[in-house]
Amino acid sequence: MIIRESIESDLDGLLGAARLAFGDHEGHEIVELVSGLLNDPSAKPLLSLVALSDGRIIGHILFTKARVVSAEKVSAVILAPLAVVPGAQSRGVGGQLIAEGSRILAGKGVELVFVLGHPGYYPRHGFKPAFGYGFKAPYPIPGEVADAWMVRELIPGTIDRARGPVLCASALDHPAYWSE
Ligand SMILES: CC(C)(COP(=O)(O)OP(=O)(O)OC[C@H]1O[C@@H](n2cnc3c(N)ncnc32)[C@H](O)[C@@H]1OP(=O)(O)O)[C@@H](O)C(=O)NCCC(=O)NCCS
Repeated sequence: MIIRESIESDLDGLLGAARLAFGDHEGHEIVELVSGLLNDPSAKPLLSLVALSDGRIIGHILFTKARVVSAEKVSAVILAPLAVVPGAQSRGVGGQLIAEGSRILAGKGVELVFVLGHPGYYPRHGFKPAFGYGFKAPYPIPGEVADAWMVRELIPGTIDRARGPVLCASALDHPAYWSE
């Protein structure tokens, strides 16, 4: 398997992977989100990685710019979405996309990665609940699923020096994307 930054000609393949991963129920909405974010100036700089096996895109991860409203300046991104096609799931592809993305972002000085996702999955990859650290999500997350809003520190010590509400790119700034 190869993981690399996506290029323009990957668009159909990465949207297809998202459609398959999220299925009939959510696939359409996620395809719209990815297309919107890739064309959204407020999402930039962004990092879009694809995983390929035998030349076919089997996974995609997208990190887009976020802003923490804090007295302390902090560089942050939001991870959304992460997709691995059903036939390639549970082989570590998702984990490797998170790891490679985090490595590249840390190298660029990004300090925090936020995600709204499965609390059974992301803590395996260094994420922890964000509310307790004073990072409010762009839209209210109901108390019973509050743990789904998570943060990962790429530069140690950032969580202790910066906190505040988190703002996302325009294309992600819709309540539908923030209901777990
Ligand atoms: C979630 C997803 C990205 C994980 O990708 P993956 O390549 O299968 O993940 P990995 O191989 O790194 O990890 C697999 C492990 O995660 C677990 N896992 C997958 N989805 C999970 C979930 N929703 N909650 C808890 N654990 C989950 C698997 O059970 C597996 O556990 P095991 O190693 O004990 O067998 C993939 O299943 C997917 O695309 N799902 C549909 C879309 C989606 O829900 N995306 C995430 C949006 S937040």
